[in-house]
Amino acid sequence: MPDPLAARAEELRALEYVLETAQRYLEELEEAPVLPGRGERFRGSLPEDGDGALAALTELVAGSDIATRSSGPRFFHFVTGGATPAALAADWLTSLLDQNSFSAASSPYGTQLEDVAVRWLLDLFELPSAWGGVLTSGATTANFVGLACARRWWAEQHGVDVDERGFAGLPAVPIFSSEYVHASARKALAMLGLGRESVQIVAPDGLESALDGIGGAPAVVIGNAGDVNTGDFDPLARWADIAAAQNAWLHVDGAFGLFARVTPKAAALAEGVERAHSVIADGHKWLNVPYDCGFAFVRDEQYLRPPFRLTGPYLPSDELPGPEASRRARALAVWATLRAYGREGYRAMVERHLELAQRVALRVDDEPELERLAETKLNIICFRVHPPGFDQAELDELNTALGRDVLEDGRVFFGTTRYDGKVAFRPAIVNWRTTEREVDLMVDVLLELASRRLAVRA
Ligand SMILES: Cc1ncc(COP(=O)(O)O)c(C=O)c1O
Repeated sequence: MPDPLAARAEELRALEYVLETAQRYLEELEEAPVLPGRGERFRGSLPEDGDGALAALTELVAGSDIATRSSGPRFFHFVTGGATPAALAADWLTSLLDQNSFSAASSPYGTQLEDVAVRWLLDLFELPSAWGGVLTSGATTANFVGLACARRWWAEQHGVDVDERGFAGLPAVPIFSSEYVHASARKALAMLGLGRESVQIVAPDGLESALDGIGGAPAVVIGNAGDVNTGDFDPLARWADIAAAQNAWLHVDGAFGLFARVTPKAAALAEGVERAHSVIADGHKWLNVPYDCGFAFVRDEQYLRPPFRLTGPYLPSDELPGPEASRRARALAVWATLRAYGREGYRAMVERHLELAQRVALRVDDEPELERLAETKLNIICFRVHPPGFDQAELDELNTALGRDVLEDGRVFFGTTRYDGKVAFRPAIVNWRTTEREVDLMVDVLLELASRRLAVRA
């Protein structure tokens, strides 16, 4: 096959083929195994002569049986959202229009939509409209943005412009969080030169004395809205008061937990976030837009730009902040899904997920062979299989083996974690398609697999 210019007649046919694939895929998504195929699909070396777009697409689709059906309703692993119809179509449009939305000079369409999307998100999360914000590739890069602002503020307290001058001569940054701090926040700290291990862990009521202990020196506090194991929250309203009184920047990681603020049924959990200095969430989790998408919001917009300033004689001066320069127009999917379903649509979805989580929690409590390990406050159920007569080590072994069984079985998908020293399951409900049918199946499948293993042991 010659170069793409000569093969341009294929362009629409390749897109039609993807549309036909989408029709089949979406029809099957609710019933298909979560991981229909296993093994290697893509081998071979770089072709000297290509076979053209249609042949390439056909091969991609043929191998897609090893794509997890993670946008389907039975994928409870990690915290993985699906893609609403509006978001999915807008994401296709994003590729069609192929905007580099780093600046209005390259895409007024992308930057205007991002501006509106950020304002709508602030409204959705009931955060002050004067805050600044930016779309990112996910919660990790959003944590990176929020903590870069925190770092800038902290160095400013020491009279230094860290983004221009660097860290030389500055003391270590005092950073506090709870045991809920996510690996992603630590990764962001590492990328910012602050150090993964620099976080001092405090108990929920230990923040005040920890800050007292550094005698009013400026500090950074990472509050957690939604622990990945349990969905639990730090006492954010109290921490916001303490941070304000003690010269600390409060950054809140609300990758999925920020969505508690979408419904009065859970908003109290995330009260106080509106008084934080920076707050982040994911789009590809509970907003149900396709990967990849996150958001960072910053109370004082002046901190948002300097860490990410991009200068050059050929560059515009209105670039959007964030770790990227060139960037996908993620705002299309965010804008489209909010335009399509509005505040009420998201409230209904989040409330449905909260009810589904309670349904699973009740079922776990009712089943003698299951044991809930934590309160179910949001959308994650932390529990394990606990038949009588098993000691701790045997329980860990059994639940680890069952974790493998669940993934192998593929009717539902969720993983294990270690919580309170115990191997546990932590399915998370964030997909717009998930209903009672799928969460009931989640427990049924686990019980069936457990009884199989126990029968072998008996
Ligand atoms: C609380 C929390 N923070 C951050 C992240 C990282 O998110 P991402 O994978 O979008 O970077 C996650 C992902 O599960 C999370 O649960």
